[in-house]
Amino acid sequence: MKIVTVVGARPQFIKAAVLCRALDDAGLQEFLLHTGQHYDPNMSDVFFGELGIPCPAKNLGIGSGAHGRQTGRMLEGIEQVLVDVKPDWLLVYGDTNSTIAGALAASKLHVPVAHVEAGLRSYNRGMPEEINRILTDHCSDLLFAPTETAVANLKQEGIDGDHVVQCGDVMLDAARFYGARAEQRSEIMTHLALDDGDYILATVHRAENTDDSRRLEAILAGLAEVARQVTVLWPVHPRTRPRIESMPRYTERLRLIDPVGYLDMVMLEKHARLITTDSGGVQKEAFFHGVPCVTLREETEWVELVESGFNRLVPPNDSALVAEGLMDAMETMARPDPAVGIYGEGHAGKQIVETLIRFTPAICPAADGAVPSN
Ligand code: UD1
Ligand code: UDP
Repeated sequence: MKIVTVVGARPQFIKAAVLCRALDDAGLQEFLLHTGQHYDPNMSDVFFGELGIPCPAKNLGIGSGAHGRQTGRMLEGIEQVLVDVKPDWLLVYGDTNSTIAGALAASKLHVPVAHVEAGLRSYNRGMPEEINRILTDHCSDLLFAPTETAVANLKQEGIDGDHVVQCGDVMLDAARFYGARAEQRSEIMTHLALDDGDYILATVHRAENTDDSRRLEAILAGLAEVARQVTVLWPVHPRTRPRIESMPRYTERLRLIDPVGYLDMVMLEKHARLITTDSGGVQKEAFFHGVPCVTLREETEWVELVESGFNRLVPPNDSALVAEGLMDAMETMARPDPAVGIYGEGHAGKQIVETLIRFTPAICPAADGAVPSN
């Protein structure tokens, strides 16, 4: 069985690392195709090195650009690879432009598509990610949903049956496996002279927050207010960096650093007093590492965390609300209990590989003709 995996953005390298190991354990062949959507060394190369992911078999080097141009160029490059490699499966993760480009290219060539992190919905069509995830789900043949809610969301859109598999979240597998490695190898706490529980960890990169100067200023001013009392440490995404450079009156009170590798990020998360973010992955990692989280958005796809009280939504419409929301969270939010099995038991990678094998006629003759189509 041959699998082409399309990755391109930071969180996809982390998710793919889990499957790279699980596929390797099962003796299966994977062709890793990097679209080049993320390309700075600290947004791409660092993950391949520290997570032990094999070098991509091909990097399309697409880089940044407007949605249509970026996605279109990916589509063309991925299509050619699929024609050349003729895989049994195309594997995609999450909701980025690399995800939809992979799914679209494969489905037009009748290459079965497997989508990891299927069924997530914000119900906010203003987000590019929402469009990417809906379209990807609707052209996927195997849908790996991390949660019960994700399965229910798919059912509501008419996608159900045995090709929807609730498998838990590959990011939990990653947090457990690489979390242990981070404890041994990361020196970031010493390097940055940080103490346990002494800082708030912040990340902000969503278009809805960075491209709206009013919201971005509310976030910066709110964080700067909180920074009078507690250190705010912020690894700045390259999308956000140029947009905040014109606001030194806020940023000079914050501790801004460049994006860090995953092992360092895990350590920063584990030791934070509170995490505040608009990242999907970081919201879940806060829970995995037992740290309360404030999400700077109107809604989240990871609704279970909000329902459990482990995560609070603070829409960044006003700096005072951001500051009050963070101060109140620091005082009143309990540490989440990561033993609550919302995202499975940390064996999503293995279950995904076993399911791929089960649905592949070349490997499992009983599956002949069973690859379902939406
Ligand atoms: C993308 C995903 C988003 C995901 C995020 C993970 C889409 C539509 N968005 O957002 O869902 O949460 O990745 O981090 O696919 N840039 C650099 N160097 C890089 C990469 C980006 O400087 O290595 C800058 C460029 O100015 C670029 C901007 O960041 O224009 C945005 O990058 P892009 O990949 O388009 O979207 P992200 O905001 O990273
Ligand atoms: N991350 C990282 N270094 C950083 C910031 C984030 O390794 O400086 C990791 C983080 O631990 C998580 C993933 O990147 O695993 C989340 O990616 P991002 O926030 O870019 O995207 P999203 O999850 O929102 O799609």
